[in-house]
This record gives sequence, structure tokens and C-alpha cells, in this order.
Amino acid sequence: MKEKIGTLLDDVKAFKAENIEQLEAFRIKYLSKKGVIAALFADFRNVVPEHRKEIGLMMNGLKTAVQDKIVSLKESLENITETAVKADLSLPASAPLGTRHPLSIVRNDIIDIFSRIGFTVSEGPEIEDDFHNFSALNFPADHPARDMQDTFFIEKDPDIALRTHTSSVQVRVMENSNPPIRTISPGRVFRNEAISARAHCIFHQVEGLYVDTDVSFADLKQTLYYFAKELFGEHTKTRFRPSYFPFTEPSAEMDISCNICGGKGCNICKYTGWVEILGCGMVDPNVLDACAIDSIKYTGFAFGMGVERITMLKYQINDLRLFFENDVRFLEQFKSTI
Ligand code: DAH
Repeated sequence: MKEKIGTLLDDVKAFKAENIEQLEAFRIKYLSKKGVIAALFADFRNVVPEHRKEIGLMMNGLKTAVQDKIVSLKESLENITETAVKADLSLPASAPLGTRHPLSIVRNDIIDIFSRIGFTVSEGPEIEDDFHNFSALNFPADHPARDMQDTFFIEKDPDIALRTHTSSVQVRVMENSNPPIRTISPGRVFRNEAISARAHCIFHQVEGLYVDTDVSFADLKQTLYYFAKELFGEHTKTRFRPSYFPFTEPSAEMDISCNICGGKGCNICKYTGWVEILGCGMVDPNVLDACAIDSIKYTGFAFGMGVERITMLKYQINDLRLFFENDVRFLEQFKSTI
């Protein structure tokens, strides 16, 4: 009997199942009422008393080995089935296609519109020094925009900060190239502002710069009029209001006729029929000089716009925070060709 149990134990240890059915057959063979173990226990009656202890232990050992084997084979067979389900290569390729982020769609539209009239794209660093973000742009030393309230400083003396606008890129372009210059600079900017439906501490701008001989305010107006019609539609009207920026003189803000009510008046345009979309002006001669461009020979215009604001107007989105939440139900509503 000892020998028989020994052979059975070897069989059990060597057993392998390729599927659940084989494992079930194994269980029935050993553990069912008429199975191998039950038969052994029935034979146990015939074992002489002096061998009972030893053989009893061996039989229990065999039973435990069968049970352990079933548990471990079951686990590994279940794992195999799970993996097979996860990587079912026969499933049709129906993964939904992603969509471009609305801010990328509008940024690409803006780039496309200006490239058609000869503007190149320039980029600059997001971490800037005081010279490129402020001084070269004619900001007085005590200008409030330099204040800790608005600017995320990284180091003091010399000041290193996250750029507060993409106007810093026009300085870099002018330092490194000679007129004629015609470029736009899209990018992220950072301001220490409370996050709300209308403001965020990170947002996107597109800066524009045109420097050449005889560039006039009429060129600025015509360029931006073309841009507004391309982006918001042929019927769009523009108007320029006097404004102030340290780096332009004269400076203006450009409004477009409200694209929601068509100029009749609604809550988006606060019943004025107009919405502001960008700041602009003639490049201040001090800025040209700071960038080693001859301000007697050359003139230029510049403009800067917020991509979030333009996207909100274009798609009638009323909360700027939606752009940063990345909720697919919001994102998948936008489709683009570029
Ligand atoms: N840098 C300005 C801002 O962040 C936007 C701007 C206004 C840029 C007028 C310009 C400009 O180039 O001419 O608010």
C-alpha cells in the first residue's frame, strides 16, 4: 500500500492541465465519492495496526497534495483566460480616434492665417530674464506688472521669471535678425492670478511682429482686419480703440463685431455689439533701439492676443477652466482639419 500511495503522489505532482475540463476530470478521479482517495480510505480498514499511523499520514499527505494541485492549477488557468481576454487580437480595431484640443485648433488656425501673408513662426523660452520680459520692452523699473502679485519669479537679482507674455519673443527675434521681420510667436504664458471662469495662471498667447522700412498704422489695421475676417467670417467688422502698452506708441485695442449676436447686442458683448480680441500698436522706438535695430530707418507694428479668449468667442465657451480639465465629453465636441 505504501508503494501504491507513493506512485499516486508522484502522479499527482507531475499532473498538468491544459484547461478547466482536464482539471475537473482530475478532481473527480481523486476526490469524488468513488475516487482514488475514497478507495484508499476504504482499504485502510485492512491495514495492520502497526502500519496505520504511517499509512494514515501518507494518505492525508496525498489528499492535501491533490487539493493543493487543484487550487494552483485553477489559479494559473484563470490567469491565462484573463490575459487572453485582455489581448484578444481578433477584436475589430474600433478604438475611437482622439480629437485636437480646441486651443490647439485655434492656435493652428491663427498660424495658418498669418502664414498665408508671409509671417513665420518663432518660439522662445518660457523661463525669461527681466531684460526680455520687461526692460527691453520699455517697462519702467516700477511698473506694476513686475510686481510679485503678477509675476512668478524663480530667482531675484538678477530676476528670472516665468514669462508673463509672449512679447518677450519679439525681443529675441529682433536681437537675432535684421528687418524685414514678419513673425508670430505662439506660446504659454504665466501670471500669478486667481483661477476663475475668466482667468487662469497659465494661458496661451500669440504675439505678432512686423518690422521694415515704412511700416505704418494703416498696415497694422489692414493686417488685423484680414485676420479677423479669416478667423471669424467675412461679415466681421473691426474697430480700434486707443490704449496703452509700454512697448507700443501709439497703442490700441482691437474689437470685432460680436460674432454671437452679429453686433445687435447680447450678454457676451454686454449689449455693445463689440468684443475685444487683442492689443496692438506701433513698436516703440525705445524697443527697437534696445534690440539694436535702427529706429530712424525702421518702423514696425506688433500685436498680442489671448488664445483662450479667442477660442471662447469662436466656440461660445463660457468657462475658461474647461480648457484645462480635459474632460473628454468637452474635448470630443471639437473637430479640426488642421
Ligand atoms: N503683451 C500684451 C499682454 O500680454 C499683449 C500685447 C499688446 C502685445 C500690444 C503686443 C502689443 O505686441 O503690441 O497683454
